[in-house]
Amino acid sequence: MSNDNIQAVLGESRIFPPAAEFVAKSRVDAKKMAELRAAAEKDHVGFWASLARQELSWNKPFTVTLDDSKAPNYAWFTDGRINVSYNCIDRHLEKRGDKLAIRFESEPGVVTTLTFKQLHGEVCRLANVLKSLGIRKGDRVVIYLPMSPSAVIAMQACARIGAIHSVVFGGFSAQSVRDRVEDAGARLVITADGAHRAGHVVELKKAVDEALNEGCKTIEKVLVYKHAGNQIAWKDGRDLWWQDLTAKAAAECEPEWVEAEHPLFLLYTSGSTGKPKGVQHSSAGYLLGAHQTTQWLFDVREDDVFWCTADVGWITGHSYVCYGPLSNGTTIVMYEGGPMTPDAGRFWKICQDHGVTIFYTAPTAIRALMKMGEKFPLSYDLSKLRLLGSVGEPINPEAWIWYHHVIGKDKLPIVDTWWQTETGSVMISPLPGATPLKPGSCTQPIPGIFADIVDESGELIPGLDQGGYLVITKPWPSMLRTIWGDNERYIKAYWGQFGNKYYVAGDSAHRDKDGYYWILGRTDDVLKVAGHRLGTMEVESALVAHPRVAEAAVVGRPHEIKGEAIVAFVILKGQRPTGAEAEELIKELKNFVAKSMGPIAKPDDIRLADNLPKTRSGKIMRRLLRSIAKGEEITQDVSTLENPAIVAQLAGKE
Ligand code: PRX
Repeated sequence: MSNDNIQAVLGESRIFPPAAEFVAKSRVDAKKMAELRAAAEKDHVGFWASLARQELSWNKPFTVTLDDSKAPNYAWFTDGRINVSYNCIDRHLEKRGDKLAIRFESEPGVVTTLTFKQLHGEVCRLANVLKSLGIRKGDRVVIYLPMSPSAVIAMQACARIGAIHSVVFGGFSAQSVRDRVEDAGARLVITADGAHRAGHVVELKKAVDEALNEGCKTIEKVLVYKHAGNQIAWKDGRDLWWQDLTAKAAAECEPEWVEAEHPLFLLYTSGSTGKPKGVQHSSAGYLLGAHQTTQWLFDVREDDVFWCTADVGWITGHSYVCYGPLSNGTTIVMYEGGPMTPDAGRFWKICQDHGVTIFYTAPTAIRALMKMGEKFPLSYDLSKLRLLGSVGEPINPEAWIWYHHVIGKDKLPIVDTWWQTETGSVMISPLPGATPLKPGSCTQPIPGIFADIVDESGELIPGLDQGGYLVITKPWPSMLRTIWGDNERYIKAYWGQFGNKYYVAGDSAHRDKDGYYWILGRTDDVLKVAGHRLGTMEVESALVAHPRVAEAAVVGRPHEIKGEAIVAFVILKGQRPTGAEAEELIKELKNFVAKSMGPIAKPDDIRLADNLPKTRSGKIMRRLLRSIAKGEEITQDVSTLENPAIVAQLAGKE
């Protein structure tokens, strides 16, 4: 976030109290929220224990709520047994068997629906197929599917038999699939022939073939869902059609009752090093977080139609597409394609056609749609909407006001939800029937979550109107359990900075005079490009893999729609080209990164230079690079630079 944005956010003083009409019907009003907060303050562990008993269905009830004997490796509900897919599907069958669980629209516009009963049948069939392929409790399964019911069915089928899924976003490259398969030691990949995206077919199976051509020795089979109908290569003995096998499989499959702490999934996310981390989530604690927050923050009711636009490849798609809403017996909408296909009215048309009542999306999408003008949303009937949400990056007040005014008709609450892949579910957010809103602030920690801010030395900063590092001071059920295969990295990355006392989120935040939190951005080398997390080191590693690149430094620059854009400074091996030759090479490098990481990582700007600005001890001066990337006048002291003359060249003045 740029300084201007920070100023704009911190200067924001408008307050929007919840509308009386909304409060009257909401699950949690201000009084109830105060009671929940007081209960959690008094007995934080007991608070979560009673929710876990009340909200989840257990095969064996737990007696131990929190085991902190190996802190910061916390464990919750340790002696209980549960099955996540049972909680999301089976327990609704009696009351909601014929209710729609999923309303799906493909990008070309084909609508398919699944009732809870039908979803149960599909999940059981696939679970039986997985078992017939030898997949057992604890085995890792990589899922690389379009945003479609097949993805939810695959995730739920893994959960049903206790297999650990690792979903790879369909926009990621073959290389990303390979890295994740290898890190997780996966035995099976579930993919599709292709996915529709922005009028094209993304060839998922082709990327899997490429990934498996080199390495990935642990993979035995590839299960392929026929979706886009594109031509694919086939490897006999390894590749199997999903539809062929499920057609012959039984529609009943007993859930595998697993320990509460059994890993439900791994989800890889970027950190400060070049290698993404396999964030490991538990079964019961994770589900409780996703379930409870869906209920409190989205105020779900029996007749709601919930649309979270996030892809299942991200944590938001795990918690608020696949697990949280289904666990509450809520109908979800899934949409396969892009928001601008065929035009900028697509999201609003889907809201109208499917009768969406709760709409949850990212600021990037809001800003992009805002730019296209009011005529698109005004052409559709959005009268069923009753609640809006935002996630993934700070929402600037201007976009917030547009969302509230044009989509929310000045009356719908907006829940601006702060959380992370690691937190599993939302941590700081308004409760829509209780919290007065301030545009740009995610407001306050939800009941049961204890957030705070600390200074550079890890001391809590008491009082209001203060800024610092955002930390979580008490464990919570849906917290990550570890980094797959690297517990040391887990401890170092999230706890080590302040002596293992707090969970360190990696964000800086301001707590205003009312105790509201304003997230100011990351404190580490992580970028947020269109709401997606990318490590600067990952992009740098991708660049230096090109034969002509000797060294690269990547920084973020504020971007009107994407939040941040990627700027790379590149030092070549040999002569630095100029003119058309340089332009050609820059284009090649951009495409090279997109190919190796996926299109979201494609740099917006690449600058070729003879050197990077380094201190005499050899450290790249990133702060300086950030200023240069923004085109700012350089006022910083460059006298400590090894090579001060380089600044003019990097700024394009030479
Ligand atoms: O910087 C914060 C930002 O997104 C980061 C987490 O990214 P990821 O793990 O990809 O999860 C995104 C979806 C939960 C955070 O460290 N972030 C997320 N939500 C918000 C946010 N920043 C400001 N406001 C938010 N509501």
